[in-house]
Amino acid sequence: MAELLKVLSGLGLALGAYGTAIPTSTSTAQGTQYTIPSSVTNGQNLIANVDDPQALNAQTVCPGYSAYDVQNTDSGFTASLKLAGTPCNVYGTDVESLKFSVSYQAEDRLNIEIIPDDIQPSQSTWYLLPESLVPKPQVEEGMCLEKSELAVTWSNEPTFNFQVIRQETGDVLFDTKGTKLVFENQFIEFITALPEDYNLYGLGDRISGLRLSNNATLTTYAADIGDPLDSNLYGAQPFYLDTRYYETSGSKPRKPVQSSQAPNSKKYISYSHGVFLRNAHGQEVKLQPQSLTWRTIGGGIDLYFYAGPSAAEVTQSYLSSTVGLPAMQQYFTLGYHQCRWGYRNWTELEDVAHTTGSTVMRALAWEYPNDPSLAAVETQFLLGPALMVVPVLQPLATTVNGVFPGLDDGEKWYDWYTQTVVDYAQPGVNTTIDAPLGHIPVFIRGGNVIPMQQPALTTREARSTPWSLIVALDKKGNASGSLYMDDGESISPNTTLSVEFTVCKSKLIATSSGSWAESNGLEKVIILGLKHAPKDVRFNGDSISQSAQYNSTSHVLTIADLQGKTGQGAWHDDWVLEW
Ligand SMILES: *[C@@H]1O[C@H](CO)[C@@H](O)[C@H](O)[C@H]1NC(C)=O
Ligand SMILES: *[C@@H]1O[C@H](CO)[C@@H](O)[C@H](O)[C@H]1NC(C)=O
Ligand SMILES: *[C@@H]1O[C@H](CO)[C@@H](O)[C@H](O)[C@H]1NC(C)=O
Ligand SMILES: *[C@@H]1O[C@H](CO)[C@@H](O)[C@H](O)[C@H]1NC(C)=O
Ligand SMILES: *[C@@H]1O[C@H](CO)[C@@H](O)[C@H](O)[C@H]1NC(C)=O
Ligand SMILES: *[C@@H]1O[C@H](CO)[C@@H](O)[C@H](O)[C@H]1NC(C)=O
Repeated sequence: MAELLKVLSGLGLALGAYGTAIPTSTSTAQGTQYTIPSSVTNGQNLIANVDDPQALNAQTVCPGYSAYDVQNTDSGFTASLKLAGTPCNVYGTDVESLKFSVSYQAEDRLNIEIIPDDIQPSQSTWYLLPESLVPKPQVEEGMCLEKSELAVTWSNEPTFNFQVIRQETGDVLFDTKGTKLVFENQFIEFITALPEDYNLYGLGDRISGLRLSNNATLTTYAADIGDPLDSNLYGAQPFYLDTRYYETSGSKPRKPVQSSQAPNSKKYISYSHGVFLRNAHGQEVKLQPQSLTWRTIGGGIDLYFYAGPSAAEVTQSYLSSTVGLPAMQQYFTLGYHQCRWGYRNWTELEDVAHTTGSTVMRALAWEYPNDPSLAAVETQFLLGPALMVVPVLQPLATTVNGVFPGLDDGEKWYDWYTQTVVDYAQPGVNTTIDAPLGHIPVFIRGGNVIPMQQPALTTREARSTPWSLIVALDKKGNASGSLYMDDGESISPNTTLSVEFTVCKSKLIATSSGSWAESNGLEKVIILGLKHAPKDVRFNGDSISQSAQYNSTSHVLTIADLQGKTGQGAWHDDWVLEW
């Protein structure tokens, strides 16, 4: 136990009430009563190795490995690794022989596994994470290096090291060269080089900046504790996303740029990839200016690389192949987010959940991958692709600063409240936005059609209100959007409805498919960013100009009284609205 404690605390993991106190007993007539001494709440007074200047650095004392006996397999290759010197046994016992396996699992996914060569049945759950707990992503049929976006190279100079390379660009995404692989029964360490001023995200749960610091030690160890800043929380996600920006102009190969030193005047492109360590032991990741050190206190190295190249593709691939897609929420369960202790049963829950539909928070950098200046922006975010929120984060402030991305490329942003286009912002400039008490700045991104119902006290009531649409035109006068509906409750709904909206050349077309019967009608359509008053407004060819109002100051066209036209439900039939 003392040995394990030393290792655990060496990794900076918080230990609560371990101790060696033996309960003392006192006899009374009723029987025996035990009194726990108060010292039992004190853990051993140990200094974490990461904080201990005397602690041995495994990199300086361990020998590393060398690879031999390389064999090709159907989906990659394997090699044997042998300890390249005297065991260091620094925080455990060195494993003499390891097996290194590379498997090109899918076009965009690669697996590198390093585990002991000889695992006895009694040790298997120590070194191998059972697939019944965390399934192992599978190799797709017919996969091989030639089809893969990623490739692996390795060398024994000066000791065994490997690189993961993006085949299209030759970029080295992961590189252990110049460091030693340490593989002990209670301590594993490997190190990759990273570019200067890197953009890494993830390695949760923790409350910290969106972009991870390049000078921090992150512990991954599920701890059911309040909300400490910069330390481990409830869950453990040993996964990170790495985004790298390049200048597009100039000669190939593309020139990497640091996001903090990328002038607005140039054009950029970004590539993102993901890295997941399938290991459920306590872990820590030490981030330094140009490297990442990964340590665990057990298990094996089972690494997955996701090629992207967009952040959205990395996330989708990680979810769909590895950890599973999130469950579709019942509409009234949104209240769960605010009710860990507060609400006890469904009846109460339905009454407090005010929101319908699901939204996904997105970092600006993920929606605008070619703008390096957004790499670390965490003071504003998007809900889905269409809404941007710039919350006030300072007490007593009445203004807030925010950027309006994409202006350079003609992106249009509309104020949610006034419905007018934002004409006071400049590309790449942090703009001061009014935010008096009670006003949360929200903006609509041009090019989107947003279906809405009305607010109500319960989600059930909200779901029985009429529909309206906000059509926010882009610079070409186009927009699109979609709506998905079902009963909102069934785990596998027997009927669903999908509606697609497209706007082009002053014409909005709504097309539905599916048999979920939605009985609420369409109340109104609001078109934002319309330059000139329309001559005529027609619904399925019938003139309805008397229901339309154009505001020539705000450039908003409001078309009301559509309930009569959609009596059987807003999406019962396909329709066309022209102006
Ligand atoms: C890195 O972090 C440590 C601990 O928080 C701090 O003392 C040190 O000044 C930081 N180094 C740099 C270069 O920021
Ligand atoms: C749920 O809570 C409501 C309101 O407090 C109460 O009337 C109802 O009986 C409860 N239902 C169950 C199943 O406990
Ligand atoms: C804008 O300014 C705020 C505060 O002044 C800052 O926190 C934020 O990072 C800035 N945003 C950008 C994109 O520079
Ligand atoms: C946008 O509008 C233009 C001009 O009306 C059209 O040529 C183009 O195809 C539209 N683009 C999309 C994505 O609908
Ligand atoms: C479909 O599901 C709804 C809600 O669960 C149920 O009321 C309805 O009877 C089902 N219809 C069919 C055809 O199974
Ligand atoms: C037209 O829009 C302007 C600017 O948003 C607003 O002040 C005005 O009240 C609107 N007029 C009408 C009739 O709604």
